[in-house]
Amino acid sequence: MIPRALLLLLAVLPGVAEAQDSEQVRSVQDIFAPVGAPAEILNNTAILVLLICLGIFVVVGGLLLYAVVRYRHRPGDDESEPPQVYGSTAIELAWTVPPILIVVVLALATARTVGEIQNAKITGDPVEVTIIGHRFWWEVRYPKLNIVTANEIHVPVSYLGAPRPVQMTMGSADVVHGFWVPELNGKEWLVPGRENKWWIQPSLPGIYLGNCTVLCGPQHANMLLRVVVETPDDFDKWATREQRPPTEDPTVEAGRTDFATNSCGSCHTIDGTTSNGTFGPDLTHFMSRKTLGAGVAPNDDVNLKTWLRDPQILKPGCLMPAMKLNAAQVDQITAYLKTLN
Ligand code: CUA
Repeated sequence: MIPRALLLLLAVLPGVAEAQDSEQVRSVQDIFAPVGAPAEILNNTAILVLLICLGIFVVVGGLLLYAVVRYRHRPGDDESEPPQVYGSTAIELAWTVPPILIVVVLALATARTVGEIQNAKITGDPVEVTIIGHRFWWEVRYPKLNIVTANEIHVPVSYLGAPRPVQMTMGSADVVHGFWVPELNGKEWLVPGRENKWWIQPSLPGIYLGNCTVLCGPQHANMLLRVVVETPDDFDKWATREQRPPTEDPTVEAGRTDFATNSCGSCHTIDGTTSNGTFGPDLTHFMSRKTLGAGVAPNDDVNLKTWLRDPQILKPGCLMPAMKLNAAQVDQITAYLKTLN
């Protein structure tokens, strides 16, 4: 019902995204700078709705302004009331029929957009990702690639003619969470006991920031995520790195022992060791991640040691308790974790 040509015209109006590389963090989240199919479809509808509303605003505001100026009180006016009109069919129709038509157009345009995104035929060579919300971090699984990671979702960029849609299955391990990366698609729910399907198809490399959109507890606001969109080559390199067994560096044996004896492994998994917990993020390739604590701080020495001393310093209310490690243990575990490439 909306002519394609109009949609295409609208698509070029909002902020045209500039070229960038996969290391560049898009620090400003912007729904009007869509990157890839589902977000572009949403943006077109949003612009259409805004234009219709702008039209209504101009007409109503214009008439109001006209009436205020034209019929303002002037000296020497005759003070009698203007003619009072009741039950004029023409006027009643004029202010009921157009609004109804406008609402119908908006509803149909929205329904069409919802259908277009929900029922989209996934073509090309899709990447499958399972995302499970936890208080307060994201478990990220690539079932076909046999990769488990957290908080940072790597996906290949889609080129014109070579789409690599990312098919997402969303679930939750505890309470309801919401997944939203504004440049890539709208919001989706993560509900315990349910599987919701979602997809993105980013067309420009870069790091896109996302949030949890449903209040899920004290660290809801620090349940951050990032989608790393990279060239297919870089994505394959990343995947190969994630599939490798973890490095076994004999120089960090003390840290490995500390990790095991302090029951870190009852919450965290490190492949090839006895640590197989699933309550916290998988740490097998921990150093491939740029951030700590679901985006709360950069993954560097100082923050890592602070985190190990007491996670509540960086992320008050997170579910990892202070493990009461002494300074030597903190140093040894830090050294060990830093070998997990
Ligand atoms: Cu998870 Cu808010």
